[in-house]
Amino acid sequence: MDFLKPRYIPMNRRRRIYEGKAKILYEGTEPGTLIQHFKDDATAFNAKKREVIDGKGVLNNRISEYIFNQLNGIGVPTHFLRRINMREQLIREVEIIPLEVVVRNVAAGSLVTRLGLEEGKQLPRSIIEFYHKSDALGDPLVTEEHITAFGWANPQEIDDIMALAIRINDFLTGLFLGAGIRLIDFKLEFGRLWEGDMMRIVLADEVSPDTCRLWDTRTGDKMDKDRFRKDLGGLVEAYTEVARRLGVLGENERPSGPVLVQ
Ligand code: TMP
Repeated sequence: MDFLKPRYIPMNRRRRIYEGKAKILYEGTEPGTLIQHFKDDATAFNAKKREVIDGKGVLNNRISEYIFNQLNGIGVPTHFLRRINMREQLIREVEIIPLEVVVRNVAAGSLVTRLGLEEGKQLPRSIIEFYHKSDALGDPLVTEEHITAFGWANPQEIDDIMALAIRINDFLTGLFLGAGIRLIDFKLEFGRLWEGDMMRIVLADEVSPDTCRLWDTRTGDKMDKDRFRKDLGGLVEAYTEVARRLGVLGENERPSGPVLVQ
């Protein structure tokens, strides 16, 4: 597995493959790999609102690394290979399926607005929604009919995606609960990984407080990107706390808090 060996490519010599709102993809160190770079940029409402939040990219890189490693560990196939540095990870190159797959456990966000539900109410069961990835259209909600009719994914692929989404939800709900965090909802992206003639659906993109709603189980405090969307402030502190509770930050990386003087 040669591509697992570190090989240094100076930043300015790398080929940029794609730039999104919060991440950049560069060509990888070996064929079939890419480097995923986490920026500090925060956007909401289809980038109508934007800000640079120092340190967000570093935290998302670490939190997403941890979650993808955990998922790889329970046999959920993902694009993640390894973290390279503070802001970057080596991933397998996949063909991204143009869908945002949202899993919801508790009423919040656009579901509350669309259906007039009470925020914070446990849903009768977990709900999976599909949105078509299109910045031009603001990621519209779509049904399986649209997905198959327009060829974004076939019925077998939709089945695989839903089965993976349910497994990921069950696992992450428990993982976060163990850290005193309620997993309200989250967004996933999947890709096609080609291995010769064989194709597998794998989890791609990132799983971080940018792409999840995370509420403190005790206080109900929001520990996710809603802090930015709703101008609540304290985003880096909240993401740092998520990382700390997951055990992602090392001892000397802990944010300096009050020190007991003896
Ligand atoms: P929503 O309630 O705004 O539809 O969001 C559902 C979940 O998806 C929430 O955890 C935030 C996440 N999300 C993204 O990751 N990217 C997006 O562009 C949007 C709109 C939501």
